Amino acid sequence: STPVEEFPQKLEKPQDIGFVFDIDGVLLKGKKRIVEATDTINYLSKNKIPFILLTNGGGMTEEKRIDFINKTLQLNEYPIHKDQLIQAHTPMKTLIPHHKRVLVCGGPNDDVREVAENYGFEDVIRPIDIIRANPTIWPYHMFSDEQIKNWGKDPKISKVDVDNIDPNENLPIDSVLCFNDSRELGTEIQLILDLLNSENGILGTRRKFKSNKPTIPILFSNNDFLWSNEFKQPRFAMGALKIAVLEIYEKINGEKLDQLTLGKPTKVCYDYAHHILIDWRKIMLGEKTADNICLPQLNDPPIKSPFKKVYMVGDNPESDITGGNNYNWGTILVQTGVYQDGDFERNPETSRPSLGIFPNVKDGVMAALKLNG
Ligand code: G3P
Ligand code: MG
Repeated sequence: STPVEEFPQKLEKPQDIGFVFDIDGVLLKGKKRIVEATDTINYLSKNKIPFILLTNGGGMTEEKRIDFINKTLQLNEYPIHKDQLIQAHTPMKTLIPHHKRVLVCGGPNDDVREVAENYGFEDVIRPIDIIRANPTIWPYHMFSDEQIKNWGKDPKISKVDVDNIDPNENLPIDSVLCFNDSRELGTEIQLILDLLNSENGILGTRRKFKSNKPTIPILFSNNDFLWSNEFKQPRFAMGALKIAVLEIYEKINGEKLDQLTLGKPTKVCYDYAHHILIDWRKIMLGEKTADNICLPQLNDPPIKSPFKKVYMVGDNPESDITGGNNYNWGTILVQTGVYQDGDFERNPETSRPSLGIFPNVKDGVMAALKLNG
């Protein structure tokens, strides 16, 4: 039998090599752990090798997701810290100083409100709050009376009064933030386009000119078009909502919508992740206190990096690997997730992993350490 490979005993400068892990398909498969992930994370933490998690998923607070990951991977001795996690919507935090009243789209219903409020957005409005205020705004909504009663609320600062276009009674909304996959596509498409074409972000108004620039900004937390569940064929994800919004916006304005999309493989998301990885390294080395992670601005790359090499470890050639390659990080593709043999052949230039394809996360990390040890 072949001997089991193990991690190196000693490394020259462990703090100068960084790892960025995708979650679904690398550390977890659905709600179950990928067993090799436990050894890998324990080894990195024990040896003070900086790492963070970067996922296109979301829909719950970073605390809750990290708790789940720590329990599922059984990381009792070296639990991962919540500040090491970047979900698709985490970078939206940077908007807080200028975006107070925000329409937060996507589900699950209560959880996403909690996430946005937990980030510190002052006045979070959910589509169901607007339906509750006046259902004629989208009469075909599918929320039940019970859901409206349980989930619909008045926002914190001032209630939603869509029947009154006086900006003092119906306060303007500062931006549309699509946090996670829509649970009510019809409602969200109507409300989003109402706001993008409104006068100053006031529901019930309509601006008198056409433009590629929406009245208020819109951000999508990721560009994923499909996701897979128990059903035989993949299902529509947020990318499908984005296509609908872009298409209708262009129909109204005759120009393409100016919008911002986060998530892998976008550079804006890798820049954000790079800042967090650099800062986490400082915290790990005791140069900075924990619970004090930086809040990077969007589209603001780090000026310099202390890392000799950073590796992106992912299961998706088109998001994890393409994003990592474009960012000049080393890339490691694992076979525990969505990747099927030969997948990157469709797009070999951008999605071929630089270090190679490995059966699982442990083999990939070991190969990287051997090369840089
Ligand atoms: O949106 C799909 C989500 O499951 C992807 O997660 O961790 O593979 O980026 P991840
Ligand atoms: Mg994945």
